[in-house]
Amino acid sequence: MELKDKLKVSVIGSGYVGLVTGVALAELGHSVICMDVDESKIAEIKKGNIPIYEPGLGELLLKNKAEGRLKFSSSLKEAVDHGLIIFIAVGTPPKSSGEADLSYVENVAREIAINMDSYRLIVEKSTVPVETGERVRQAMQLYIKGDIDFDVASNPEFLREGSAVDDFLHPDRIVIGVDSSKARDLLFCLYSPLAAPLIVTDIKSAELIKHASNSFLALKISFINAVSRISEMVGADVDKIAEGMGMDERIGKRFLNAGIGYGGSCFPKDVDAFIHMSEVLGYDFKLLKEVRKINEEQRQIVLKKIKEGLWILKDKKIVLWGASFKPGTDDLRGAPAIDIIEALLKEDAKVTVVDPQALDKLKDIFKDKISYEVDKYKAAKDADCILLTTEWDDFKDVDFKQLKDIMRLAFIVDGRNLYKHSELDSHGFLYLPFGSSAVGKPIGDKKVI
Ligand SMILES: NC(=O)c1ccc[n+]([C@@H]2O[C@H](COP(=O)([O-])OP(=O)(O)OC[C@H]3O[C@@H](n4cnc5c(N)ncnc54)[C@H](O)[C@@H]3O)[C@@H](O)[C@H]2O)c1
Repeated sequence: MELKDKLKVSVIGSGYVGLVTGVALAELGHSVICMDVDESKIAEIKKGNIPIYEPGLGELLLKNKAEGRLKFSSSLKEAVDHGLIIFIAVGTPPKSSGEADLSYVENVAREIAINMDSYRLIVEKSTVPVETGERVRQAMQLYIKGDIDFDVASNPEFLREGSAVDDFLHPDRIVIGVDSSKARDLLFCLYSPLAAPLIVTDIKSAELIKHASNSFLALKISFINAVSRISEMVGADVDKIAEGMGMDERIGKRFLNAGIGYGGSCFPKDVDAFIHMSEVLGYDFKLLKEVRKINEEQRQIVLKKIKEGLWILKDKKIVLWGASFKPGTDDLRGAPAIDIIEALLKEDAKVTVVDPQALDKLKDIFKDKISYEVDKYKAAKDADCILLTTEWDDFKDVDFKQLKDIMRLAFIVDGRNLYKHSELDSHGFLYLPFGSSAVGKPIGDKKVI
């Protein structure tokens, strides 16, 4: 096998990770089938309707489809027949115990085994607990017909929603967990067009790299949020503290942003799964339990801050600028906005949400219990409070004079520490950021929750 060889690849599960993986591998020149059990999703993708918002994905998908390198299917057999390398990219959602639900992974492994008639390399792309590779191998051995050789590998994905295509095509590193030279050579060949460092490990270490990485990033966020509480108590500025810390190369400045805490489909789930997995193995990962607790508390602190400004929330119009868990995506899984909206509704507040991409998905959750708006100024009319939840570009550029004239009360709670104290001060806002002094004078008791 030459490194320049183009390979046949199938990706099982065409969600945020599977679709990006399939499209990006086709862009590298490989021949790809993206498969999903959701027939309507595949039918829509075939028509050119992309089920998720991800910058650049639609254009690349259409290009590679038109050039004949990318196909879509809801037939697992077709995918297994096609791909020498088969990625498993199905969901691994959390159970109520925090344990990762591996039933989708097991189901796919079993179906691949049943449909395979010659060698295949099965690659875990989904985020899975350590030793899942071993379980996948055992499950396949149970169902495989005859004496067919296969390999299992782990190739965890580190893409970030909102910049997923770019991340996939320009990764910091590619982690390959293998236990055979054949599997290693196939994955080397697959990724040879990318100029990224390859880390080759055993399968268990690769699985652990993913959980350890996400948990470490979550830890950085909770750490700075803990510091932000102390900073607020003494009237210091957590953003300056983060800047000063981050200039130390050993620490680095990224993921030191104080605010409403982490969310999304990965960090909360992966921290839970890592805690659960450690417990099963006999280690009480107390450090990560505290990371999770600090993160949960940040959402209560948001409510506390709104109450500091308004005292009673009943019938107050509260506008959330942002719903998705971060800018650049329509993904609402684990989004802090969801918990905050639920808490506000419990207090009988009137909630309006502005978001450039996530409103359709939000409507599926809250129906007519809240109002939806695409224009940030229209939403702010007669509002008692704006809560910045997601730092979309549209919310970075604000005419505060206009905003003050529109709002009933000029009050902003800044869940992302986006705005400048001096600017809000000059326009006469009550401004409550995280981890630094308030601008203006809150009316409520600090102990209101
Ligand atoms: N979303 C991210 O940013 C991200 C980043 C890195 C890793 N991951 C991991 O990747 C995995 C997938 O995440 P996602 O966000 O893409 O999930 P997703 O829910 O968007 O997509 C999963 C897809 O798998 C499909 N599916 C389920 N069972 C199937 C089956 N038996 N056969 C074929 N398709 C099936 C579903 O219909 C769905 O379209 C998870 O383990 C996640 O933790 C996600």
